[in-house]
Amino acid sequence: MKLTTYIKGLGYYVPERIIDNNELSTMVDTSDEWIRTRTGIEQRHVVAPGQNCSDLVMESAKKALAASGIKPEEITHIINATVSGDDAFPSTATRVQAKLGITGMALDLSAACSGFIYGLQVARGLMALEPEAKILVTAAEVLSNRVNWKDRSTCVLFGDGSGAAVLSASPTPPATGHPLMANAVIEDVMCNADGKTGHLLYCNGGCSDFPYKLGDIVGPENFIQMNGREIFKYAVRTMAGISQQLMEKLGYTINDFDMVVPHQANTRIIQAVGDRLGAPAEKVFVNVNRYGNTSAASIPLAMGEAVETGVIKPGMRVLFTTFGAGLTWGAAVVKF
Ligand code: UT7
Repeated sequence: MKLTTYIKGLGYYVPERIIDNNELSTMVDTSDEWIRTRTGIEQRHVVAPGQNCSDLVMESAKKALAASGIKPEEITHIINATVSGDDAFPSTATRVQAKLGITGMALDLSAACSGFIYGLQVARGLMALEPEAKILVTAAEVLSNRVNWKDRSTCVLFGDGSGAAVLSASPTPPATGHPLMANAVIEDVMCNADGKTGHLLYCNGGCSDFPYKLGDIVGPENFIQMNGREIFKYAVRTMAGISQQLMEKLGYTINDFDMVVPHQANTRIIQAVGDRLGAPAEKVFVNVNRYGNTSAASIPLAMGEAVETGVIKPGMRVLFTTFGAGLTWGAAVVKF
C-alpha cells in the first residue's frame, strides 16, 4: 500500500530590509521601468549584516512547527534546500538542527530553485522507508551574497527568503488553529534534470572546479553567471512540460486544479507557463513582484503566503512547478 505523506504546517520568512527598483537604479545602470516590464519585480528583501541562511531557515521552521503541532524534538529528519548555505561545510541543515536543539538525519540538498520540490520528493522516499518519520523540509537562500551587485543582468532578479514544511504520514489534522496549519496530501511529485545545460546558470567560486588561492581577489567570475534568454526558454518549456506529464500520470486535466503556483522568477515566465497549461490568469499565483526570485525558497514562500492569506483554502488541489540551475525542474500536486 502506498503511504500518504501530509504537509501539516507551513512557514515562510523574508528579511526586513527591502531594496526597491528605484534604490537599485542608484546602485547599477537600470530603471524601475525596465525591471517591471521585463520581470514584474518591484522590490526584493535582503539580509541584514550577519544574518545567514540558517537564521532565515529558523524563522520559517519555527512557524511551520507551531502550525503543525509537532514539537522540534519529534523531528527525525531535516532536509534543507539551498545553494547559498552558511558554509561550504558542514551543512546548513546541521546548523538548523543545532539551533533547534535536536539530533537525527540532517542534509542539505542542492537543486537551486527546484530544491523545495526535490526536497518533498526525497522526504516522500524517506517516509516510505520510515513511516513514523516527522520530516522538516526547508528551503532558504541568501542570493544577495551570490550576485554581483554591479551586474545589472542578474542583480535585479534575486531576493533573500525562506520557507518550511513539516511532513508526516499521520492523517490526524493538527488542531493548532495556526494560520499556516495544513493537512494537505502530497498526491505526487515528479523531478527531472539535464546536467548538459548546467553552463546556462551557475556560480562556481570557491569550489573544486574554481578553487580560491590565498590572496586571490574576488572578481565578477566568483558570482552568479546566467544566459538569461536561454534560461527563459527552458524555464517555460520544462515547467509546462513536467506539469503536463504529472497531470497525465494522475489522470487530471488543468480543470482539476484550483490554483497553479509556478516558480516565482519572472511574471512573463509565470504567465507563459499558465498560458501553455491553459490556466486562466486568476488561477495562477504571483508574488514575485514583492520578493523577486528567492530560488529554492520561492515555492514554499508562495505556498505559505497563499495558505496564510486564504488564497489556497482547504479542499483545493494545487499544482506547483519549478525550474532552476542544473538545469533542474519539477512539479508537485498537493490537495489542501
Ligand atoms: O530561477 C531561474 C533564474 N533565472 C531567470 O529566471 C532568468 C530568466 N530570464 C529572464 O528573466 C530574462 O531573460 C531577463 C529578465 C534576465 C532579461 O530580459 P530579456 O528581455 O531577455 O533582456 P535581454 O537579456 O535580451 O537584454 C535586453 C537589453 C540588453 O541591452 P541591448 O543589448 O539590447 O542594448 C541588456 O543589456 O536590456 C539590457 N539589460 C538591462 N537594461 C536595464 C539587461 N539587464 C538590464 C537591466 N536594466 N537590469
